Amino acid sequence: MVKAVVLGAAGGIGQPLSLLLKTNPLVTELSLYDIVNTPGVAADLSHISTPAKVVGYLPPDDGLKKALTGADIVVIPAGVPRKPGKSILNAQVINAGIVRDLATGIATAAPKAFVLVISNPVNSTVPIVAEVFKKHGVFDPKKIFGVTTLDVVRASTFVSEILGDLSLAPKVVVPVVGGHSGIVPLLSQSSHPLPSGFAQESLDKLTNRIQFGGDEVVKAKDGAGSATLSMAYAGVEFANKIIRAVKGEKGIIAPTFVNLAADKEGGEALKKELGTDLDYFSAPVELGPEGVVSIKALGKITDFEAGLVKAAIPELQTNIEKGVTFVGASK
Ligand code: NAI
Repeated sequence: MVKAVVLGAAGGIGQPLSLLLKTNPLVTELSLYDIVNTPGVAADLSHISTPAKVVGYLPPDDGLKKALTGADIVVIPAGVPRKPGKSILNAQVINAGIVRDLATGIATAAPKAFVLVISNPVNSTVPIVAEVFKKHGVFDPKKIFGVTTLDVVRASTFVSEILGDLSLAPKVVVPVVGGHSGIVPLLSQSSHPLPSGFAQESLDKLTNRIQFGGDEVVKAKDGAGSATLSMAYAGVEFANKIIRAVKGEKGIIAPTFVNLAADKEGGEALKKELGTDLDYFSAPVELGPEGVVSIKALGKITDFEAGLVKAAIPELQTNIEKGVTFVGASK
């Protein structure tokens, strides 16, 4: 039995993400929460002939608590997306408050659930969830994840495009590390190497495209929001990995933004490798029934990649501190 909950389920990401979760036969209950429209989304999805029972909840009558009770896995795409011409900072503050309040709901109604944070800025919203859980005495770093899978998915797709064969896209694995913003694709470790003689200029371009892939979508949507469909796909890729790991499948590895205390030994080794004292980082993580089993080292990377990692650290540190301070300053 797996109960999956989507918070922000009526949104641009929330709806296709809920649809994809409904297609996972391992999910037996799908609980949809949003401040609007969940009864309609739930009624629609409930007609799909897969095992999950679908129920929609709204805020009145303890809707959040009811949605979360008994949850095994909670995915959070609630918030406001960035829009061209609108201040990103404004969206960030709104999202910080939304995520803090939802995290409070999870900490009280489903403290043992796996929490998958999609709402941006992930580098701050993940520390926000962690700090709220600490306040409630239920913090387990092994179970809180920032979803960076869209960066991973984009890397696989763009590399396969360069290799001239999109059918490779599902098989190409590129570790993506750093933060979500502050993304560093380790293309030198791609399961499918780039063509020999791939010029540095082309490598710069490809790296930049993976780092700023979101901008392509924001621009093409021309005011209608940011990535939703590809994000829903990526979110469910990651959620399904968690569900498979919980069911006992071994050796599942995925890059994700985690608190490095989730694996003391691996976390400390990574900090040493990075030469910093960051509390959070996005790195390939092995998943198991209790969440994080181990955090992987970066391993052999090129000078170019090492430079990108180094450059990402100060902003990452600031983002993390912002999240921690935000909760500290909240009553
Ligand atoms: P959207 O505006 O279409 O949907 C957001 C949904 O959240 C809406 O249905 C809204 O009613 C709901 N919501 C707002 N306040 C809520 C609350 N307190 N409780 C429950 N639900 C609430 O936005 P979209 O495009 O789905 O994006 C959602 C978030 O995902 C944004 O923060 C965006 O920046 C982020 N995102 C993250 C990515 C990643 O790679 N991690 C990629 C793309 C977007």
